[in-house]
Amino acid sequence: MLHEFLTSISSRCCPYGRQAGLAAEVAGIAGRRKRHKGAWAHHLTNTQDFIKAQLALADPEKPILLLGAGLCLDVPLAALNAHPAGATLIDAVYPLASRMKCRPFKNIRFQCFDATGFLEKFWGNSTGNPVTPPAIAPIPAGDWGMIISCNMLSQLPLSFAGSPPDGDIEIKLTAVLQLAHMKMLRQAKCPIVLISDYERQETTDIGSDIGSGADTVTIVSAAPHLLPGEPAKEWIWPIAPKGEIGPNTEVSLKVGAWLFSGS
Ligand SMILES: C[S@@+](CC[C@H](N)C(=O)[O-])C[C@H]1O[C@@H](n2cnc3c(N)ncnc32)[C@H](O)[C@@H]1O
Repeated sequence: MLHEFLTSISSRCCPYGRQAGLAAEVAGIAGRRKRHKGAWAHHLTNTQDFIKAQLALADPEKPILLLGAGLCLDVPLAALNAHPAGATLIDAVYPLASRMKCRPFKNIRFQCFDATGFLEKFWGNSTGNPVTPPAIAPIPAGDWGMIISCNMLSQLPLSFAGSPPDGDIEIKLTAVLQLAHMKMLRQAKCPIVLISDYERQETTDIGSDIGSGADTVTIVSAAPHLLPGEPAKEWIWPIAPKGEIGPNTEVSLKVGAWLFSGS
């Protein structure tokens, strides 16, 4: 708990990022990673390896943009630093741990940036009237050699809706935010790497004494029509092993990795 509290208060945030709960969310990720280092290792390594394997396709004269850097747990910093034009990492939250990890890499910049373009409009809205997100998500200005969306697509709606979304308004908002992210990626004129979970499985062991093993609930975390076809790689991320959210419940995510070209 202390570790999570310190992670949260020492994080820098983009405007309204803290009000939206994103510093707390990142602190929660730091805590879960600490508790489940072994269970998370495969996912973090797979993400880093997939990114590293694509970097040769990036234009060496243009910097790489990585979206969703967060705690830089799954970000191959040394490989990005070795890209001749360097890399810009963005996230709504810039944790102290990432500031320390990025410090040795002179070719890497980190920018606090709202990748939905909706935090201020939503959290700063005092009118009571409904507000809508941009149809195409913003990205930092620049001529990018490659754009990497790094385990963030399913997380973008969390500042505005529950997980899973509750009711029609939240369901619609979730879909619009994820579509806006994908439209932004598809419009880019460079190779795109997308790594995202797309399905969440919650399994509860209901005990042999009552009879029948386990009860599994499956929730779509990124709709198939948004994704660029079959993933080049996929794996399971046991994000919450038994004990994390309940004694008999475990949560795992199906994660996919894609490489595609922008327009
Ligand atoms: C699952 S984490 C990604 C893991 C991250 N690459 C790491 O190694 O810690 C999702 C990230 O999305 C970021 N995020 C969520 N909403 C955002 C927004 N509106 N703008 C920018 N980043 C956002 C969170 O702050 C978080 O760091």
